[in-house]
Amino acid sequence: MNVLICKTAEEATEQAYDIFKRRFGNGLKTLGLATGSTPLKLYEKIRTSGWDVSHVTTVNLDEYIGLSPDSPQSYNYYMQEELFKYMNFKNTYLPNGMAEDPQEECERYEQILKENPVDLQILGIGPNGHIGFNEPGTSFHSLTHVAELTPSTREANKRFFEKDEEVPTKAITMGISSIMAAKEIIMLAFGEGKADAVRKMVEGPVSVDCPASVLQKHEHAWVILDEGAAEKL
Ligand code: GLP
Repeated sequence: MNVLICKTAEEATEQAYDIFKRRFGNGLKTLGLATGSTPLKLYEKIRTSGWDVSHVTTVNLDEYIGLSPDSPQSYNYYMQEELFKYMNFKNTYLPNGMAEDPQEECERYEQILKENPVDLQILGIGPNGHIGFNEPGTSFHSLTHVAELTPSTREANKRFFEKDEEVPTKAITMGISSIMAAKEIIMLAFGEGKADAVRKMVEGPVSVDCPASVLQKHEHAWVILDEGAAEKL
């Protein structure tokens, strides 16, 4: 795992963007995307880059169960607004949070991932060390599955919802094994609120207690931090 510590989130985003630029230039076919506030600046840079992405497929990490793509809190909606409506991607995939049979949807999504192996995956980290919606305790062998969100994750994400009870309790998420299959991973973390999770990810034992610690085992993982997120290293 390569750890890069930058002064600010802007500089960290710039570093991540440089890696993206090089991989786009080198024939990247499938991009793994994340949501949340962390990659927003990166998506702004990508959508104004003028790149031709008509040969690029995207796959997203996760989606809330029970939110339709036109719900502003859904990850489908976020991706449309932040990236997809500006760019001509070949295909864009997210799990369907409205699927009648979520289990079947997980299998369908895992098949999509098999057909579109991820070249470069962007990741954020939850304050409890989750990646995607793989909460502490999730097996490192997990594939795409239905996840119960922990109270701390619902708490961290409630800022996007009007009422606490509107925060979904479940999501469909790529599993840890599905995420680790990416050829290269860029993990971004900004702000002091992530410092404990970042320390466990980088310096702690590789353990299901901190799902992101599995990145220590990835051969091509970049962890790009601002000073706040790095303050406990
Ligand atoms: C959510 C998402 C994650 C994301 C995390 C951090 O729970 N499922 O994919 O990385 O939040 O979000 P933020 O970047 O807003 O801190």
